[in-house]
Amino acid sequence: MRRILVTGARGQLGARLLQCAEAAGVSAVGVGSAELDITDREAVDSWVEPGSVVVNCAAYTAVDAAESDEAAAAAVNERGARNVAEACARAGAGLIHVSTDYVFPGDAHAPYEADDATGPRSAYGRTKLAGEQAVRRALPDAQVVRTAWVYTGADSDFVATMLRLERERETVQVVDDQLGSPTYAVDLAAGLLELARTGGRGVPTLHATNAGSATWFDLARAVFAEVGADPERVRACSSAEFVRPAPRPAYSVLSPRSWEAAGLTPLRPWRDALADALARLG
Ligand SMILES: NC(=O)c1ccc[n+]([C@@H]2O[C@H](COP(=O)([O-])OP(=O)(O)OC[C@H]3O[C@@H](n4cnc5c(N)ncnc54)[C@H](OP(=O)(O)O)[C@@H]3O)[C@@H](O)[C@H]2O)c1
Repeated sequence: MRRILVTGARGQLGARLLQCAEAAGVSAVGVGSAELDITDREAVDSWVEPGSVVVNCAAYTAVDAAESDEAAAAAVNERGARNVAEACARAGAGLIHVSTDYVFPGDAHAPYEADDATGPRSAYGRTKLAGEQAVRRALPDAQVVRTAWVYTGADSDFVATMLRLERERETVQVVDDQLGSPTYAVDLAAGLLELARTGGRGVPTLHATNAGSATWFDLARAVFAEVGADPERVRACSSAEFVRPAPRPAYSVLSPRSWEAAGLTPLRPWRDALADALARLG
């Protein structure tokens, strides 16, 4: 197994990937932005070792803030991603680049396939798509893995927020008109590690989420149910009642077909993953 370099290793996904690699006895090094700022081309070059595999988990992920500062998002998500891919090309390293459902317009009615037409509706989505394209140009063999609705329950993600609100409020309003696949960062990390190990038959673009779909409302109710709280305390509202700077895709479900074609282990149903995630939080 080639050595793995994880960028963005202090983020929710990067941190879980490092833990996963350690548990599996795979040699991995993780760097946060303090050690490696991917916008610094020379620094990226100095970290990428010949023959290694880089998993690029570093990203500008502030979806709403990106609307008013797209340049800051592009610096990391487009140019940073390009720096990583170019460094891998120069060093003869492999690259798994993590991307997002936000590259799609979000108006579909069936799960997005990896080769479906893109069409981001937000600044964040535009910069992530530009990053995918820059990666592809610099390193045609790179693998792009799109995911969605990632949580650990322990960071500042949606599940963690619902756990807090369950303690703080009698009722919580949650949007019921956006559909996606909640994805436990630990399951995604295990999938990325399997991809790094096996090469995933060289499939260039992959979708990786827990199986099945839910609205944010469904997910919030499941969180409440899982901790023994009354799910009726979660009330449905519409996106129109909860306006945010960046438009959210109404439909974000990603098809697992590319993942299956790569011969990779399917990620379990989102509801099972959530139960496990919350049990592990204790
Ligand atoms: N969270 C989701 O729901 C979701 C959904 C779809 C796709 N994704 C994708 O999944 C990947 C991982 O996201 P995440 O959820 O783990 O996000 P996250 O928790 O925000 O982590 C991203 C990490 O990127 C690092 N970073 C930011 N700017 C950097 C720079 N210039 N150089 C190096 N590192 C930099 C940050 O490092 P420091 O903390 O060290 O500053 C941060 O820890 C991203 O590609 C994201 O687009 C996430």
